[in-house]
Amino acid sequence: MAELDAARAEALFDMVDEELILITGATGFLGMQLVRDLLDQRPNVRLALLVRDRAGLSGEQRVHAFVPEADRARVQAVSGDVSHPGCGLDEATRQRLQAEVTRVIHSAATVRFDHSLEEARRINVEGTRHLLDFAGSVRQLRSFAYVGTAYVAGERADLVREDELAIGQSYRNTYEQTKAEAEALVRSRLTSMPGVILRPSIIVGDSRTGVTSSFKMMYWPLKIYARGLWRTVPGYPDAVLDIVPVDYVARAVALLLFDQAALGSTVHLCAGPQGSATIDQIALRAREYFHGPAPRYVDPRFFFAVMRPLLFMALWGRKRSVLRDGRAYRDYFTMRMQFDTSNAQRFLQPAGLTPPPVLDYLDRLFNYCVASEWGRKPVSAA
Ligand SMILES: NC(=O)c1ccc[n+]([C@@H]2O[C@H](COP(=O)([O-])OP(=O)(O)OC[C@H]3O[C@@H](n4cnc5c(N)ncnc54)[C@H](OP(=O)(O)O)[C@@H]3O)[C@@H](O)[C@H]2O)c1
Repeated sequence: MAELDAARAEALFDMVDEELILITGATGFLGMQLVRDLLDQRPNVRLALLVRDRAGLSGEQRVHAFVPEADRARVQAVSGDVSHPGCGLDEATRQRLQAEVTRVIHSAATVRFDHSLEEARRINVEGTRHLLDFAGSVRQLRSFAYVGTAYVAGERADLVREDELAIGQSYRNTYEQTKAEAEALVRSRLTSMPGVILRPSIIVGDSRTGVTSSFKMMYWPLKIYARGLWRTVPGYPDAVLDIVPVDYVARAVALLLFDQAALGSTVHLCAGPQGSATIDQIALRAREYFHGPAPRYVDPRFFFAVMRPLLFMALWGRKRSVLRDGRAYRDYFTMRMQFDTSNAQRFLQPAGLTPPPVLDYLDRLFNYCVASEWGRKPVSAA
């Protein structure tokens, strides 16, 4: 990733002395990186992190688990739940935040593909509605950044432009559908509220270190391949995977939140046609790295109609689990859509921020997977 020139960024983006940024989803994969980025890059901001109380831990205890002690004076934990009316904030906190918050980043969502439509809507759509209602009541709101997903494009197979949302496409799962519904809601409110919609594609680990706290999405098929559990790909070798590293996405969100020129826009935070890779390019790299067999491509219609039901009866144990769990990822081996990144280039290139091509940092992701035993073992910083 091109390093951001701080002086140029200062000149380009709207830097104000006193800022309190309310962030949802701060305990998540992207959210934690975003918090780190904002604390490192913007000495003048304070953060209010809206966090659920969970597993016997208060929001404050959860925040302390990942915010270094030196930064805690700039960070306040706010107990809440976006799926509750008023985001579950108590009255005194709500009033204080309405008076003090200057910007909002809404990153909280359920990213599970297997939720019922009702459950996914409760968090992704109603949660976004509650956040928008709250943001609308903030007295000095300067900007609202909504973290959506490029996959609101659903089953499209062409070049997706940033200004397009619902053009009659169908969706692969309740995640895509509810994120599209939530984005429509945000769009309708941005006519009267300063805000920007940011759509990452598939987020993976840090491009410089490979570090990730999430081993979902691309990592799952890689893991079973690396472990010799599977080599059949129910998809097309030329299917396109658009992948972006978490450091790029966090930096882009942190910059665009302050960019007056971006208000009202939708921005693809994606590798784009130049930077994405095909399934076969990634498989070839994985094959070289893990010394595995060549993947076997099977027509997905044949696989799911004929092969899978037969295999399901014939296999037991881990291979059967692989067959069951792999269902959630099946559509990602057949995608042919690409994401246009004109707005991202327009707003972020002047600050020196461009997404690195996937194939440039793939080995670093693999290194971290191996070093951390696919997330089971902590890895100490070098
Ligand atoms: N990961 C990707 O590849 C990807 C790609 C494109 C777009 N995105 C978008 O990026 C955003 C962040 O994704 P992620 O990968 O960081 O997801 P994640 O790791 O699963 O984190 C989700 C975050 O949302 C919070 N959350 C969920 N339900 C909540 C609720 N009811 N109230 C308050 N907080 C709630 C979670 O809090 P808890 O810790 O309490 O569960 C967590 O902090 C999402 O909007 C997602 O749609 C992600």
